[in-house]
Amino acid sequence: MAGRAVEPLVQTMEDTAGAVAALEEGRILLLSRLRFELAEPERRYLSPASLAGTAKNISFDPHSGMLRGAAMADRGGLREMLRRFSEWGAGEMARLCPDYGGELRAGLANFRPAEIAGRASSWRKDDTRLHVDAFPSRPMQGRRILRLFVNAGTAPRVWRAGEPFERVAQTFLPRLRAPLAGSSWLLRCLQVTRERRTPYDHFMLGIHDAMKGDAGYQAAAAQTEVPFAPGAVWACYTDLVSHAAMSGQFAFEQTFYLPVSAMRDPARAPLRVLERLLGRPLA
Ligand code: SIN
Ligand code: FE
Repeated sequence: MAGRAVEPLVQTMEDTAGAVAALEEGRILLLSRLRFELAEPERRYLSPASLAGTAKNISFDPHSGMLRGAAMADRGGLREMLRRFSEWGAGEMARLCPDYGGELRAGLANFRPAEIAGRASSWRKDDTRLHVDAFPSRPMQGRRILRLFVNAGTAPRVWRAGEPFERVAQTFLPRLRAPLAGSSWLLRCLQVTRERRTPYDHFMLGIHDAMKGDAGYQAAAAQTEVPFAPGAVWACYTDLVSHAAMSGQFAFEQTFYLPVSAMRDPARAPLRVLERLLGRPLA
């Protein structure tokens, strides 16, 4: 692997002490005591045939019960499996981060039954390239993205993890233009975005795209390979941790959102880091 290794990126946690601080510092927490076991009848969903058409993910909204991306024949069972995973994930994350109290909000749960390696996609959607998470249609307005993952497959899920966020930002911010006046209003009117795209969202998307689009950076940036064993459970702030998913099949993922104000150390939020580097408010 090219570049210097970045240590210590992965921290094994047997209990919850210090978890919030480690997450906010940009570590990937390997939650060695946790397991999410599939029930025997659920094991048949460990197949790409669970996916509808060209979908890459099956997503479940724990608030509305809405399921997307599931093959028609298995919708009922897949919804129940994802509901069970989502409830388990929310319970475990609340136990891991009691400091966040009621401020941590669950977003979508995802089941990813497609093999990552060799999958074709546009460079912008290619998660085998190092990136920080930012979504074109879902402005975060500064809110944090915290994710809990389970490897439900029989092979390791292999990530690459890159350099600290501040270094990423220092590399890519100088290449980005400021948002055009009126663009966030226009995107909202055209229904590209659900909420207003703030300057924060503009710069995070810009960093996401610039990272993925720079083949030299992908090869040369300090990085380390992180294999997650079958059954492993891990969590990290994916808006902060530079990551790429290289291979593996059958992952579950539950997304959580957190307001910056609810953090133990808000100065570590990407919003605050970018504001400090640019010298102005961004959300
Ligand atoms: C990603 O967030 O880039 C993908 C992570 C994964 O599916 O393991
Ligand atoms: Fe990602």
